[in-house]
Amino acid sequence: MEQISERSRELLYGTWRKQRGWSPINVVSADGVYFFDSSGKRYLDFSSQLVSTNLGHRNGAVIDAIVEQAKKLPYVSPAFTTEVKIRAAEALLKVVPKSIRKFFFSTSGAEANEAAVKLSRMVKSPAYKVLARYRSYHGSTYGAISLTGDYRRWLAEPHTMPGIVRYPEPYCFRCPLKLNYPQCGLACVNYVDYVIKQESNVAAVVVEPITGTNGVIVPPPEYLPTLRKITSENGVLFIADEVMTGWGRTGEWFAVNRWGVEPDILTTAKGASNTYVPLGVTGTSKEVADFFEDHLFAHGHTYEAHPLALATIPAVVAEFERMKLLDHVKRLESYIGKRLNELKESHRSVGDVRGVGFFWALELVKDSRNTPFSDYPQRAIGEPGEVDRLAAKLLEMGVYVYNGPSWLIIAPPLVATEEQLDEGIRAIDNALKYTDDKYSQ
Ligand SMILES: Cc1ncc(COP(=O)(O)O)c(C=O)c1O
Repeated sequence: MEQISERSRELLYGTWRKQRGWSPINVVSADGVYFFDSSGKRYLDFSSQLVSTNLGHRNGAVIDAIVEQAKKLPYVSPAFTTEVKIRAAEALLKVVPKSIRKFFFSTSGAEANEAAVKLSRMVKSPAYKVLARYRSYHGSTYGAISLTGDYRRWLAEPHTMPGIVRYPEPYCFRCPLKLNYPQCGLACVNYVDYVIKQESNVAAVVVEPITGTNGVIVPPPEYLPTLRKITSENGVLFIADEVMTGWGRTGEWFAVNRWGVEPDILTTAKGASNTYVPLGVTGTSKEVADFFEDHLFAHGHTYEAHPLALATIPAVVAEFERMKLLDHVKRLESYIGKRLNELKESHRSVGDVRGVGFFWALELVKDSRNTPFSDYPQRAIGEPGEVDRLAAKLLEMGVYVYNGPSWLIIAPPLVATEEQLDEGIRAIDNALKYTDDKYSQ
């Protein structure tokens, strides 16, 4: 079925790339941690697609929930309610941080963040500014790409949404402030207090609790509690973007739980439906919800609270409980860390290993000064780098690993066994010879 790949090139767009040379693999089926192409070749999915199929491929319970809902009532306008909406909201209440009490649904992480910004601005009006970090990704629609700090925002400029102010991230491997933890005293987060006061009119601060596509940057333990304290003291809303970090990825339902932080607004998507149907969730605190009792909630979509999407949420929660997946992830966290650190010991091109749960990055460097193989400017002109070639080699070897300009993101489905983790790490071990050979002193 080579035709499918060729016709795809003709008829479809390949995202975030130049179209020339796009030759997508024709995937015909998937099961658990594996997917299969039309030639029968098997691939280990070591990144859960886009860090999103947390329960793995072809989960029967989630599929059944969608099918049953499709037969019963596939659609009803957001103006009406129906049982599945309440079952979804109640399932969410069981797993979200205690501060989150009321939900708005959409169809993607980007839309979840769009809603978070609009609602924050309504609640805090006339304050409208939103603080977001440089190494961040919040989605590709105009509002969400404006929040985004990485090179993907550059490509939308100068048409981005006004009112976004940047603050630095706790990227200790290459500290933007050129400081060292812990002597730095967490200057990067303490600076946020200064920014809020100097800017004035700040409605919200948005944060990926653990930076996702920009390299799995895990903050030092005091970081998020300090950010929460600063936002509370300044009367600014704290938005946790848990689109990638939610749904067990870090060994907790949501990453903020690792630090006991309770956001005012939490956005999520991906793992919420195991990505089987498009779904975005914007959860808000009681204070935010109360504001709209007597103010217009000026937001909505035709596909808001879509029954087929919402049907997945209780099924996903039940599957996590049935398989005790949070325990499984916590149990294997240190094993993955140990195995990846062994790669760092034996490969000179591995500069840093960081992560938690089933969410890790191998940061690759091309010399002893920790120079990245490639960076955002090359990405912004669609120029592949050595780490893209490393990921392509892994794919040829039958292991799919999602990558950034100079890092691999290791985020297998949470159902992966120790043996399956070993299978992927062994392949990476073999493939790293490629970047080791490109390394110079
Ligand atoms: C942290 C984060 N926020 C938002 C998004 C955007 O989600 P979507 O692609 O569903 O719009 C992503 C996607 O990768 C993400 O990682």
